[in-house]
Amino acid sequence: MKLLFELSKEHDTLPKDEVLSCLKAEEVVYNIVVSNENVLVINSDISYDKIERLAERLSFTFFIDKLLFFCSTSRDEIKKCAKNNVIDSEGSIAINYKNRSSSVDSQPIIRVLAEIYTEDKPVNLDNPDLEMRVVITDTNVYVGSKIVEVKRNQFEKRRVQHRPFFSPISLHPKLARALVNLSSIKRNEKLLDPFCGTGGILLEAGLIGTKIIGSDIEEKMIEGCKKTLDFYKIKNFELFCSDIGGINNYISDVDAIVTDLPYGKSTTTRGESIKGLYDRAFENIAKVLKKNGIAVVGLPNKGMIPIGDRYFSILKKYEYRVHRSLTRYFVVYQK
Ligand SMILES: C[S@@+](CC[C@H](N)C(=O)[O-])C[C@H]1O[C@@H](n2cnc3c(N)ncnc32)[C@H](O)[C@@H]1O
Repeated sequence: MKLLFELSKEHDTLPKDEVLSCLKAEEVVYNIVVSNENVLVINSDISYDKIERLAERLSFTFFIDKLLFFCSTSRDEIKKCAKNNVIDSEGSIAINYKNRSSSVDSQPIIRVLAEIYTEDKPVNLDNPDLEMRVVITDTNVYVGSKIVEVKRNQFEKRRVQHRPFFSPISLHPKLARALVNLSSIKRNEKLLDPFCGTGGILLEAGLIGTKIIGSDIEEKMIEGCKKTLDFYKIKNFELFCSDIGGINNYISDVDAIVTDLPYGKSTTTRGESIKGLYDRAFENIAKVLKKNGIAVVGLPNKGMIPIGDRYFSILKKYEYRVHRSLTRYFVVYQK
């Protein structure tokens, strides 16, 4: 089957890499058919349960669909492809689309599809038996039937201001989830955040079923983080208060590390220089991460990325605009 992932386009490469990391974590065998910033199409014998599990994990994807066909935006070609790709299920239908193009008019395209696909099926826009999904780009049209929608509003509901313990230092949950996914952590593996703060990263990891371990230099952060994890009924966690230099007294051989380093504005570094703290952070992260393990690290600027070079190789890096005046860097390192 060909699967169509409708990417959120909130970044040019991160949404696609998030899907690929989840496919790896869930041990899905596939090959890539199309990859661009709007969609990822793969060919795979994946089970329905695994598709649901992917949707449960992902945060930068809108829908996962079964691809019917893709072609150019020419109406003649769309008509021809649609006639060759009939839908054999019974019941009502709705055609929903996303126009990602600035130059292609969606209406003629949808009319062509409607003529063919609603010919022998009743239309039900509110509760259709089958939702057809169409993604229109500058050059192509991708047509599929919805399998599952990613419940993205859950991430808004978990923003730090809605959690029992607040501090402005926490990343948006959808970004925290994507970082967890970039580590390709599997269910029941151990994920550490040694600068856990309010627990925003740990929470997203805990919700997908990984064992989580958190530490922070501030006792009040550990207490607040515990409150948050209890509130969301996360059971499988371990927290301790420690400076980054002491974490190897508590843990070893973790499967992955996902963390957002303090950068001295609203988060404390207790007077230490950023460079000195980051040197110690990478050294100690390397000590407790298993061989070949992945560390996904948030950094305040490009210049800090090579500090990890002594212990890790860089697999991926992302420049990410958090808001108009704040850009962060997220790097996937491998030990
Ligand atoms: C950017 S915040 C982490 C935010 C976190 N991801 C969240 O969701 O709230 C960085 C954290 O590092 C902690 N920290 C600062 N210096 C530290 C050190 N030397 N060792 C361990 N933690 C430290 C701070 O107390 C702060 O909670």
